[in-house]
This record gives sequence, structure tokens and C-alpha cells, in this order.
Amino acid sequence: MTEIISHDILVLGSGLAGLRAALSASIATRGKVDIAIVSKVQLMRSHSVAAEGGTAAVLRTEEGDSIDLHAWDTVKGSDFLADQDVVMRFAQSMPEEIKQLEHWGIPWSRRPDGRIDQRDFGGHGYPRATFAADKTGFFEMQTLYDTLTRYQNTTRYDEWFVTSILTEDGEFRGLSAIDLATGQFHVLLGKALIIATGGAGRISGFTTYSHSVTGDGIALAYRAGIPIKDMEFIQFHPTGLIPTGILMTEGCRGEGGYLLNSKGERYMEGYAPGKKELAPRDIVSRATITEIKEGRGFKAVNGLDYVHLDLRHLGADKINERLGFIRELSMKFVDVDPVYEPIPIRPVFHYTMGGIDTDINGQTRMKGVWSAGESACVSLHGSNRLGCNSTAECLVWGKITGAEAARYVTGLSGEVKPPQEAIARAREALYDDLLKREGKESIYTIRQELRRNVDENLGVYRTGEGLEAGCRKMKELKERYSRIAVRDRSTAYNIDLMYALELGFMLDVAEVAFIGAFNRQESRGGHARLDFTKRDDPNWLKHTLALRTPEGPRLDFSAVNISLWEPVERKY
Ligand code: FUM
Repeated sequence: MTEIISHDILVLGSGLAGLRAALSASIATRGKVDIAIVSKVQLMRSHSVAAEGGTAAVLRTEEGDSIDLHAWDTVKGSDFLADQDVVMRFAQSMPEEIKQLEHWGIPWSRRPDGRIDQRDFGGHGYPRATFAADKTGFFEMQTLYDTLTRYQNTTRYDEWFVTSILTEDGEFRGLSAIDLATGQFHVLLGKALIIATGGAGRISGFTTYSHSVTGDGIALAYRAGIPIKDMEFIQFHPTGLIPTGILMTEGCRGEGGYLLNSKGERYMEGYAPGKKELAPRDIVSRATITEIKEGRGFKAVNGLDYVHLDLRHLGADKINERLGFIRELSMKFVDVDPVYEPIPIRPVFHYTMGGIDTDINGQTRMKGVWSAGESACVSLHGSNRLGCNSTAECLVWGKITGAEAARYVTGLSGEVKPPQEAIARAREALYDDLLKREGKESIYTIRQELRRNVDENLGVYRTGEGLEAGCRKMKELKERYSRIAVRDRSTAYNIDLMYALELGFMLDVAEVAFIGAFNRQESRGGHARLDFTKRDDPNWLKHTLALRTPEGPRLDFSAVNISLWEPVERKY
């Protein structure tokens, strides 16, 4: 028997964007709207807790920062693919979000005079990264969670794995899900859905992401017929710890850390003389890979050659106060104390600029469905995101989508009726297809090959040949996925089943990223092709849209909003 549960708004994902959305909807309706927060992890294990360095906002206009400057930095950082109306709304909204979190009790790091402190971050023309030591995401999550407990209108479905978006006649009706603890199949009906499931970093084998970040929401939307946008743009963070990929926050460089090659040279001086280590991430990552390729890196046994992040000159006091977590991670994971030794790092898969296509309000093309945060592509980051603009985006569009969804459901009357055909299809997909497959293919081998394919062919530098091979491999992996078997048949915490479902999502998302990257014959932001080395505005100043068809992804394009600044050459 399928249990059917109804709520007004379903929030899928319990990270920063999801919690901010739930709070916003609660506040907008004074706790009247009935909200479900559905997450495959326990709330405080959402990947947002791993955010370290800060959240960008203009707080010091009297000292020289401005909304226009934040917007311009973001547009230039995006290599002009960001929608400028979206960027301006973002920059204008952020100061209020910082103050709101302050009122809700976040322990922002402070200046000696007691005012909120801010640090430098890559690509920003002013130090506007507002931070809580180097655990900013954790404190933001904790603050939102704590505030949400004041409202009685929210039900949490922790460790529920969503398998599909249920629709009827193209309209949203609800979600199908498995309660991981019991293995029971459920239906959650809702009048509105906010997808806030984060990115897809685990398509890579060397990544800063938690193991849970497998592109679920993006793939669910795509499968439900909602286009996904700009998936070819992947961000490599310049400083991933060797060999795990753990994030060594850009705050290290914001506080004055250097990048050194094997000759002890601060090589960024040669690539971005104006900003050096604080150039945007796409530029710093390319520079580092170039140094390594040209023989000025350090050799590693596992092939992950590296360079050094040097904090020694900052001194123990500053490191302990502002980068204490970095010191701890570095000592625990590689036995390197950054007070005395440089940290081994290299560029690491960190962010997917693309996601579910939305308008400026986070609304998708399906009525009643919004998306916020990294799962969405509201087109704030274009082809390269600036550091600290992601946690900020989660707050701004969490708030916007929560309020929009609340307004929408308040205007509706009547209950949602269970979409029987869609429910039957969701059950069949699980019990009559996936769990009945008797194939010989291993989920784990396919997952490993997927990650190798992404790491080899969808990296910092790309080639037509590599991308073509990558597309072919994706086709092969998808075909082999139809012949997997879920060997574990137990009900409680069937992780084998969860990994199989996640793998299906990752294959969908990675396939679109490869096809989009192969198709885009230019270099822009996080998409650097060795066979098309220049940005090509006449032909490629446009967003890539991917629609799912039975034959595979069909690409389409949409215009970029250029309402404020004409594209110019990007120099730092
Ligand atoms: O380096 C960092 O702390 C990461 C920040 C971000 O991705 O925005």
C-alpha cells in the first residue's frame, strides 16, 4: 500500500537554499502554509555546511564598495554570460540577507570595533566576503535551522530519497520517495515544489563535494520535462587538498596566502598581474594546470601533481583565528601544519554553474515548480562563478522562491488529487524495472568509469577530441546502466539501491554537460577549449538549454540579458 501524504509546499533539499525558502514561505504566511522539507540526508548533513570562506555582500559603501561594483565584478567574472538583470537584483538583495542572518543570531566574524568583518575573495573588486571564521556555511545552516524551529508549520522528511516528480497533464502534483530507513515507498502531494538539491559534483572523482551531491534535483527536473541550462560550465576551485580534494578555502588567499610552484615562484604574477592569487577561479585554475603541465609542479605518486598554498607568512595567530579549520584539516589529512609548511593543492571540481532553467524569480517552465541555489540556473554566474556568490545566491533565491511559492499556494483552492498514472509509473520504475534487473553490470564500475571520463575529458582544459570521446563514453555507460543489478534486496537503508538511483541521475547530468561542452565551440569562463581558444560573442553569447527526448538530449539556446554592460575583454 502506498502511503499518500499532502502538504502545500514541498521543499526538496535541506541546504541553505531549501531552509531559506522554507523560512521565507513561513514568514510570508505567518506560519500558515504547510511545508514539507524532504532530504535524502539529515538536515545538518546537507552539503551547505561544508561552505567555508564567506558570503558576498556590499556592506561598506562609505569605504568604497557599491552595489554597482558587486554587480560588475559578477558580470565580468561570469565572462559576460550572466544575465545582468539577475545580477543586479542579487547585488541589491544581499546586504539585507547579511543583516537578516545577524538578527537571527549568526556569529559573523567581527572587526576590533565590533562591526561585521569582511575579507578579500577572488575576482571581487572590494573585500566583501562576509564570514564566520572558515565555517561560514555551517553557521549559516545552523542559524537558519534554529530560526525555522520557531515555526510549527514545517514537517521534515529526513533521509527520504525522491525518485520522481509526479505530474499530470504537464502539471506538478507531487513527489515519489523512498524512506531510506524503512525502504517504504511514499507519495508526497504538493501544490508547489521548490527544488534546492545543490549541484552535481560527484560526477567527478576529485571534488570538494560531499558524497551526497549527485545532481538529483537537476536530473529529476530534466526527466519531468523541464529544460536544464548551461551544464557545460563547471568550476574548478584552485585549491583542493591533495589527494582527497577537500576544500582549502579561497579565504586562505583572501587572508594573504600565496600560490607557489616547485621553483618557489608566485606564478600568478605572470598570469593576472593585477589580482594575482585573487583572480577569478577559472583563471587561477588554468594557470595552475599550466604550471603543472609545463613541469613546474610537484610530482605525486597517484598522478595528482600539485603546487603549494603557502600561509606561513600569515603567522600562527592569524591562521588560528581565521583559518583554524584549514589548519585542522591540513594537519589531520596530510600531516602538514600550515603554520610551518605549505599545503599541497591543485584545482578541484567545485561547482556546476548550470542547472534547472529558471526565470529571475526562480520559477521553472513547469507551473508550481521553482528552483533555488546550485540546482537552479537563474543565470547569476554565467560561465564562471565568483567565490562567495554561491551561499549568497542560496539566501537570495531561497527567500524569493519561498515567498513566490507561498503566494502561489495561498491563491489556490481545493486539494491536490493523487495522479494515479504517474504514481503507478513511479512504482513500476522502481519495483518492476530497476529492482528486477538481472544484468551483469556493476553500479560501482560504471560510477568509477563515469568519474574517470569526467576527470579526463571535462576538466580545466578541454579538447574537441576529448569531448567527443567523452560523449561516446556517456552513451556506452548509459546503455550499460540498463543492464545493472541491485544486488542488495534489503529494505532498511538499502544503500546499493540509493547508489543505483544516484548513478542514473549522474549519468543524465554528465551526458548533458558533455554534449553542451562539445557543442560550444569557444572558450568562456569555466569552459576552456584548446581547439577554440577565444571567446566568440557573435556566435556563442547565448545560454545552452537541454531538453530530454527519447533519443537523448536536444539542445536549444536562449538569449543573455545584457542590459547594463556590453561585453569587453576580461583582464585582471
Ligand atoms: O573557497 C571557498 O571558501 C569557497 C567559496 C565558494 O565556493 O563560494
